Amino acid sequence: MSYGWIDAKQFSFNTLLLMDRWIFCTIAKNQRQEFRRRLGIALAGNPAILWYIVNKCPEQAGYYRALIQDASEDYSNDEVRDCEVYVLDALDWAVVYVYPEIMDTLGYITEWDSERLLSITDFTNKTVLDIGSGTGRLAIAAATVAKTVYASEPVDRLREYMREKVKRLDLNKVYVIDGKIESIPFQDEFFDIVMSGHTFGDDYEVELREMMRVTKPGGYIIDCPGEDDRKRPEGPDKEPLKLGFQYLYYTSKLGGDVYRYWKQKS
Ligand SMILES: C[S@@+](CC[C@H](N)C(=O)[O-])C[C@H]1O[C@@H](n2cnc3c(N)ncnc32)[C@H](O)[C@@H]1O
Repeated sequence: MSYGWIDAKQFSFNTLLLMDRWIFCTIAKNQRQEFRRRLGIALAGNPAILWYIVNKCPEQAGYYRALIQDASEDYSNDEVRDCEVYVLDALDWAVVYVYPEIMDTLGYITEWDSERLLSITDFTNKTVLDIGSGTGRLAIAAATVAKTVYASEPVDRLREYMREKVKRLDLNKVYVIDGKIESIPFQDEFFDIVMSGHTFGDDYEVELREMMRVTKPGGYIIDCPGEDDRKRPEGPDKEPLKLGFQYLYYTSKLGGDVYRYWKQKS
């Protein structure tokens, strides 16, 4: 599925050479037949990119090699390019992760107001973790009042982008680090606040357990998405509510229904 975030025709298939192991592992979860078929043709036409992927992400080498076997016919340059564009469009989320300056122009970030985060709890003098920090939307907002903010992000290009951004903004209390939500590289009960946006939810129970582990008793776990235009007549997500989260609602500047979730650790 594409978010419509890029004009894929404008991108070289070499964009995949900017991607990390974590991204290739995530792509390999896509079992859609048409995506696999087109990716197989695109990779058959770009053997150096296949070589890079299977060496960068050996645990999913089988997934990528199998695609090539299925694409054993000869394809014209135009057919290969057609498949490259299809794949880049389907992977627009990953393309913007390796071109963070594009990600930073998306409405969910530019239309968002930091009060949406700071009104959930008091961040003053707190030690905060932002998981899946991206371009730092939440981390930078928290840093206006918190004592220290750790911005954890598995994508190398996003980490570099954030490091430059916090330097430019002179935010020396923000530390940019590698890390994933399912294995947070910190000791137990380290943070007053653990937050994320558009990251929590692939495996709610595992991720919440890990976020709870690194949160101090009395601390907060927050899921604070950005702006969008999606109407949600079904109401808030049921999974966080089952896990004891409370929620706050607002109508976004883009006309969507936005729910923010939070839970205090007892
Ligand atoms: C849509 S972006 C949102 C970025 C930022 N949180 C925001 O709301 O502006 C999702 C981010 O989560 C990161 N991410 C995705 N899965 C993750 C995981 N399992 N652990 C940590 N970060 C993850 C991605 O690399 C990406 O930066």
